Amino acid sequence: MAYNKVENASNRTFERTLTYDKYTDPKIHEKELDLVFSKSWQLVGHVSQVEKAGAFFTTEVANEPIIVTRGKDEVVRAFYNVCPHRATKLERTESGNKKILQCGYHGWTFKLDGQLNKAPNFRGEDAACVQDACLRSIRMEIMESLIFVNLDDDAKPLSESYGDFFEKLSKFPFLSELKRTHQKTRLIKANWKAYIDNYLECDHCHVAHPDFVSTLDMNDYQITTCDNYSIQGTVVKPDKNYGTVDLNQAEMQGGSFFWLWPNLMLTIYPGPGNMASIQMIPIDHETSMAVYTYYFRDENLSQEEKDLMTFAEQVRQEDIELVELEQIGFRSRAFNRGRYSSSEKAIVQFHEMVLEALNE
Ligand code: FES
Ligand SMILES: [Fe+2]
Repeated sequence: MAYNKVENASNRTFERTLTYDKYTDPKIHEKELDLVFSKSWQLVGHVSQVEKAGAFFTTEVANEPIIVTRGKDEVVRAFYNVCPHRATKLERTESGNKKILQCGYHGWTFKLDGQLNKAPNFRGEDAACVQDACLRSIRMEIMESLIFVNLDDDAKPLSESYGDFFEKLSKFPFLSELKRTHQKTRLIKANWKAYIDNYLECDHCHVAHPDFVSTLDMNDYQITTCDNYSIQGTVVKPDKNYGTVDLNQAEMQGGSFFWLWPNLMLTIYPGPGNMASIQMIPIDHETSMAVYTYYFRDENLSQEEKDLMTFAEQVRQEDIELVELEQIGFRSRAFNRGRYSSSEKAIVQFHEMVLEALNE
């Protein structure tokens, strides 16, 4: 299919990509932590991780320690995982279930709704000065069982930030039945944006993903840009299977690949009900942590689900090699920017958003 030349509101055409210093400059990395990652909605988990009152998990967003809890009142909340007494990181474990959170420094304790329980070194008259010392809360929203936080207190609500994305997602009838079943992380020697660029076009699929293009109908491959997100997708070719999965009989006979600003990708592959999220977390200007999380109906995967995962992982592995090679070229003096083909409009959208966020 053909795409028109992409123009933005000011009619500037984007024939050339971001300059490569955006992928190699440590100052850009610092700026992005502030202006991109501290101001956008970030996926931090799934409600199945905090199913019962007292359940919690800890994580990080833009280098900020975060804790998500389910209180006695069943409400899920997010806080900075930092003690109000003197800044110590409060909960050290990754997840668990507790009645009370205790700081390991001077022993202050907090209820899971963030209220101070006891401050043992503030007794008598001192106690009055700390009675309102509670954990600092963070904006949090749950959509389709996915838990998102935003460090920006003034951010637009999640439900308004991505147009009709969640409406589209809710059309997949099996989503509410899925649990978070696995998570894998991988350090990638490339800037986080290189992986997003790679995800946002499929011109490379014919060259780099032979199994993907022999299974999915590339003549019907669509890329659609929407408000702060984009979708790619197609259907399976007739008489195809991967491993034990007979794709023409499967629950999902098409693949849908979503990107949400800035660094979240959600994929639904053909096969039994499934979803995976990929988050590309910048570690430094040339290193990223890829977090792959899989959601299936049950932790004990069926053979079909395992085969689906193997198929998806192969595609991911093929992409990682490419972006690591690309990072070598970003550092080279040979060129200082690349070009877009007319089918790479989702990358244009992404780059426009990066430049806008960075005020460049
Ligand atoms: S720093 Fe947490 S109790 Fe003192
Ligand atoms: Fe790819």
